[in-house]
Amino acid sequence: MSDGERIAVCPGSYDPVTNGHLDIIGRASRVFDRVVVGVVGSAPRKSGHLFTPEERQQLIEEAVAGNGIDNVEVRIFRTLLVEFARECGATTIVKGLRAISDFEYEFEMNQLNRTLAEEIESVYILASPGYSFIRSSGVKEIAAFGGDVSELVPASVAAALRERAKS
Ligand code: PNS
Repeated sequence: MSDGERIAVCPGSYDPVTNGHLDIIGRASRVFDRVVVGVVGSAPRKSGHLFTPEERQQLIEEAVAGNGIDNVEVRIFRTLLVEFARECGATTIVKGLRAISDFEYEFEMNQLNRTLAEEIESVYILASPGYSFIRSSGVKEIAAFGGDVSELVPASVAAALRERAKS
């Protein structure tokens, strides 16, 4: 970290990254000097994840590069989020909010994270209108039934989902 740089972490499962996530990451990248996308690194194919943490990381890296964003890096973390934020030199956690239904969970996370690390602020970016209905679980379900997800995720993710549906 260089002095005075405003760094934010954008944490999530990203299984897989969607256009909604990319909307939040892109907008955060315009507010902060640097954004570290934190992919939570549970064991491969555990907890219902379709993609390994490394696969999820790569899909985000490709999508971010494809969008021409150059102040974003993608890292896997296996610690508490606030520890990861400290390690990155971040002062802020950025989360996306799609609807009121997201609020209760995010409120609880906020309280826990604040109890653990009062110096790290969480801020929330509201989903752009076209993205408020997209969630990774819905995208995976559509793809599993052979449905078209090309409007919901980047092309590389749609291709990865098609491959996974075959296996
Ligand atoms: O995309 P998700 O699944 O809503 O992301 C959840 C995530 C990764 C942000 C959350 O599970 C998390 O922060 N995990 C790391 C462990 C932690 O610090 N938990 C919060 C305090 S109990």
